[in-house]
Amino acid sequence: MTNSELVFQSYGRACHKPAFFEDFYTIFMGKSDDVRSMFKDTNMETQRGLLRSGILCLVMHARGMPDTKIRALGDSHSKANMDIKPEYYSVWVEALMETLYRHDTEFSFELEATWREVIRPSIEIIQNMYEQ
Ligand code: HEM
Repeated sequence: MTNSELVFQSYGRACHKPAFFEDFYTIFMGKSDDVRSMFKDTNMETQRGLLRSGILCLVMHARGMPDTKIRALGDSHSKANMDIKPEYYSVWVEALMETLYRHDTEFSFELEATWREVIRPSIEIIQNMYEQ
């Protein structure tokens, strides 16, 4: 299996449980008061659904899909729009890894490294669009 297939399978094992997205935001917000305050007025039920497809965008882009949806995330998260500073993405990735450890029963040190490698290019596109 290719790396992007391994990640796709891993996400499939983890994301069918609604608790995955609840835990993700608990972990993510627990890492930073700044992050917590960004979601203070957010309908988190809606947001969890949006994250489900957001992560899928990262995985599908790694599997060869065009970068249209990644660039839309880059635009919405940019300085001119939601103003999500590039350094927050490492916090986001750490929260994702911790959530995957909890919910993918086959998660491992190797799979964590594979995930990081597979999603890095898409995340870099989003970060590099901060200033547009
Ligand atoms: C690659 C990682 C990320 C993905 C896939 C992602 C995905 C999404 C998606 C799909 C939305 C819905 C709006 C839209 O489609 O643009 C959204 C909104 C949002 N994201 Fe992200 N996001 C990421 C990283 C981050 C980071 C690092 C932060 C901040 C620390 C952040 C903060 C927010 C906020 C504040 C909203 C708006 C919430 C609201 O509507 O009140 N995101 N994100």
